Amino acid sequence: MSEKSGEEHVALWGGRFKSGPSPELARLSKSTQFDWRLADDDIAGSRAHARALGKAGLLSADELKRMEDALNTLQRMVDSGEFAPVEDDEDEATALERGLLEIAGDELGGKLRAGRSRNDQIACLIRMWLRRHARTVAGLVLGVVDALIGQAEKAGGAVMPGRTHMQHAQPILLAHQLMAHAWPLLRDVDRLADWDRRIDESPYGAGALAGNTLGLDPEAVAHELGFSRVNANSIDGTASRDTVAEFSFIAAMIGVDLSRLAEETIIWNTQEFAFVRLDDAYSTGSSIMPQKKNPDIAELTRGKSGRLVGDMTGLMTTLKGLPTAYARDLQEDKEAVFDQVDTLEVLLPAFAGMVRTMVFDLDRLKTQAPTGFALATDIAEWLVKQGVPFRHAHELSGACVQLAEGRGVELWDLADEDFVTVFKGFLPAGLAPQVRRVLSVEGSVEQRDGKGGTAPARVAEQIAQAKGVAAKARGFAESTSDGPAYLDGLADR
Ligand code: ARG
Repeated sequence: MSEKSGEEHVALWGGRFKSGPSPELARLSKSTQFDWRLADDDIAGSRAHARALGKAGLLSADELKRMEDALNTLQRMVDSGEFAPVEDDEDEATALERGLLEIAGDELGGKLRAGRSRNDQIACLIRMWLRRHARTVAGLVLGVVDALIGQAEKAGGAVMPGRTHMQHAQPILLAHQLMAHAWPLLRDVDRLADWDRRIDESPYGAGALAGNTLGLDPEAVAHELGFSRVNANSIDGTASRDTVAEFSFIAAMIGVDLSRLAEETIIWNTQEFAFVRLDDAYSTGSSIMPQKKNPDIAELTRGKSGRLVGDMTGLMTTLKGLPTAYARDLQEDKEAVFDQVDTLEVLLPAFAGMVRTMVFDLDRLKTQAPTGFALATDIAEWLVKQGVPFRHAHELSGACVQLAEGRGVELWDLADEDFVTVFKGFLPAGLAPQVRRVLSVEGSVEQRDGKGGTAPARVAEQIAQAKGVAAKARGFAESTSDGPAYLDGLADR
């Protein structure tokens, strides 16, 4: 440690100012309460920058060695909590500069700032941080996907009512419905992997906006920090936040995708539906009503999805209308995505647990599957197979529904003579009653055997396909964020 005392005020600017900042300004300007989490990435950047200064001859070999030692000491002190921001530090960069000066002394410590600006630094750090957390989030999203696949496999050939407009539509496999939630989440991970290619560009070396005069090599810094390339334009490097905003969209989309499954879970878990029971460990009770068991995880998911969208909206609104080079508004990018990541990192494991442990009432789903005239389309399509134009087939099937509804019975309760009468003029009397063959749920789902359909064989194929995509997506989640972008396109299945 140098002679400098622990809390001496350090500012990164001030030469041209007669006075220090007013307390009101200092309070407004301060960001360490949220940006200190970038400290590790900042120190990594400083190490790379020190080497660039060394290569450019602006630090001697001995100075570089001492600078690296000082940065290592600083990192250790940050890790242990021995060094932390104090009231006076404007932001994480200011705090770390103070730390470096304390450890290395003004003479050596004061050399590190040459050729860099907080503008290129901060633009670089948020990228490093997001690239790392995108992988964590991707892994957690895949945890939900795994839980859905596990439930789909367990459900096997179990059937349930499929709905559109929330009304009974056609019978489907429970597995098909569950997998319908897995695919959007797999696309979200695909989006993250694809986004990583665009954010994989380092702004370090852009300086305040125009580049540096010191002959520093931004490529070397970029590679050291895990980026494949340097931003082609130094103004763009410091001023753009579209890649941060794109991340915030993906985070919001994950929230929305989860929220739709959450809403369904809440409905399925009502007494009226009673399709699913949530595990005790993943539901909550009421402080007044002893009998209550509430789907709080699903409700918090639905609620927090609003917040995830809000973070994205706030960031987009901040960016709109900003002149292109650094402006302090850009500081606002961080809280939005930090909040999103913090939210998702807590939400996703709970949500995955809820999905993994929920128990479906397969008998009830089966009883409900054909009700509400859900086999009417099957009648129409059977008629088409007998040569009746769909326009008429639709009408004839509708007439069957009307008849059954009038009598208060289901379609399969209609008598052979009913079908003969309704189909008269379109089908011979001998053929009409054979429509009964399709009036079963099993027959209905089995016949929907085109690619992507709900037939058990197609659903089994779909699950196998999803597992393949998930395995590839794991490759991204487990890839290192300080390496080149994960280029193995998840979209090529
Ligand atoms: N705390 C700032 C941010 O997060 C760092 C850059 C400040 N640059 C400046 N010229 N005031 O964006």
